[in-house]
Amino acid sequence: MAIARRRRIAVVPGDGIGIEVLTEQKQLLALVNEQRKLGLELVDKDWGAERWLKEKVGLPKGSLEDLSANYDAVTFGALGDPRVPDMAHGREILLGMRQGLDLYANMRPIRCLDDVLSPLKGKGEKEIDFVCFRENTEDLYVSLGGTFKEGSVDEVAQDISINTRKGVERILRYAFEYAKKTGRKKVTMTDKNNAVRFGGGLWKRTFALVQKDFPDIEADHLFVDVAAMEFVRQPERFDVVVGNNLFGDILTDLGAALMGGLGLAASANVHPGRIGLFEPVHGSAPDIVGKGIANPLAAFSTASLMLDFLDAPLEAKLIDDAVRLAVKKGPKTPDLGGKAKTADVTAFVLDAVSSGL
Ligand SMILES: NC(=O)c1ccc[n+]([C@@H]2O[C@H](COP(=O)([O-])OP(=O)(O)OC[C@H]3O[C@@H](n4cnc5c(N)ncnc54)[C@H](O)[C@@H]3O)[C@@H](O)[C@H]2O)c1
Repeated sequence: MAIARRRRIAVVPGDGIGIEVLTEQKQLLALVNEQRKLGLELVDKDWGAERWLKEKVGLPKGSLEDLSANYDAVTFGALGDPRVPDMAHGREILLGMRQGLDLYANMRPIRCLDDVLSPLKGKGEKEIDFVCFRENTEDLYVSLGGTFKEGSVDEVAQDISINTRKGVERILRYAFEYAKKTGRKKVTMTDKNNAVRFGGGLWKRTFALVQKDFPDIEADHLFVDVAAMEFVRQPERFDVVVGNNLFGDILTDLGAALMGGLGLAASANVHPGRIGLFEPVHGSAPDIVGKGIANPLAAFSTASLMLDFLDAPLEAKLIDDAVRLAVKKGPKTPDLGGKAKTADVTAFVLDAVSSGL
């Protein structure tokens, strides 16, 4: 089979188990590339705590321009190192890429791949299957604010939540477009407009406008506190969920718990027409680093999301099917209640992919 086109991917393992799971993911990508001639070209980037500690460089100068001009995607592991307690390098690298590349849509599929993994009584594969979209560039994450009388008993600290009409509208449209494209029937917007008046009001008004352009999709609204309760009580009522940066951050970790934990949750950061950034939801897990027991399945599902984005849907599905098989029949790392090592899970998934399942 001839290579249809080149697909250039920047590989940013980061720190801790980010490095471990991306080592596994690279093996998987190399195998799929070899078998299916996808034209994947992987370029390693050493952006993380090690370099930060040596050179005080997080995201090297010119990186964003280079990524935009010369790459199709970034695959990212995780950041976080006890030697950088304020996570200064993490803000520069990860928030730097999300903000600097304007990757406004953070997508996190929430799906339970096996009933035994569900923490909810009577709810499993059938009931837990939805997709969350989190606005990724605004709200409280823009580092606007400051302190007054810092360190004194009279200290005042302020973080400002930014919500723009443009920012809110584009993430809402993205969520509706996604529902339309994938045959999902309902979009639930979560906010707190009863208490957080101004930003919440903008979300509410913009949602009312955008939903008019999607008459075939049910538009639903829940206050975010109620949404958190409903994730646990009735996950089957959700199809596509959309919300702001902070609420989305919190809700989607609850979603990861519904799937069976952080070892399984994948995410994408995108802006149509631009480079995409793909990452497992979990962090660098200092408590298990070096033990060889990090679950690589979140990184494999992340690779599947990335291949779908890179116009390789068949290969994306192949990986997704292999992950499903691994969850049901493969060796399990301790986070899923097993005794397997990272390498055992990888070997199972690579074998499943090699055999075409
Ligand atoms: N996107 C990111 O880079 C990101 C996300 C979250 C946290 N962090 C950073 O990571 C560091 C650790 O944070 P944390 O402990 O709160 O969150 P974490 O996600 O690293 O770990 C939380 C718990 O889940 C477990 N876990 C996570 N991923 C796992 C996997 N693949 N397999 C098995 N177990 C897994 C860990 O062992 C730990 O017990 C901090 O520095 C934090 O700031 C980074």
